[in-house]
Amino acid sequence: TFVVLENCIRCKYTDCVEVCPVDCFHEGPNFLVIDPDECIDCALCEPECPAHAIVPEDEVPEGQEPMIPLNAELAREWPVIHRRKDPPPDADEWNGRPDKRRYLER
Ligand code: SF4
Ligand code: F3S
Repeated sequence: TFVVLENCIRCKYTDCVEVCPVDCFHEGPNFLVIDPDECIDCALCEPECPAHAIVPEDEVPEGQEPMIPLNAELAREWPVIHRRKDPPPDADEWNGRPDKRRYLER
């Protein structure tokens, strides 16, 4: 399965959702997650993310392992998103900032 990493938080560009053939992205207030039970590992979303926030599960960087169960957990709580929408106006300012997990809204 593929995993959304913390750099998506407050960026949420949503380019990823347009290409997913199985609509497995779920949307929260300032972050998206992938439902690991629905993802078919097609890899189409990975190059679409301007924040480079999507990776295969086995390439999750050291220290970001908690994002794996977090994607699974939040995918159960949040609704599916299948259409791109405008990112937050300050998305570019947040792209690449460290330690964004503390800003996660849920
Ligand atoms: Fe969707 Fe494919 Fe990305 Fe999985 S790898 S989330 S199926 S686009
Ligand atoms: Fe997030 Fe990247 Fe999609 S920032 S919403 S994973 S395009």
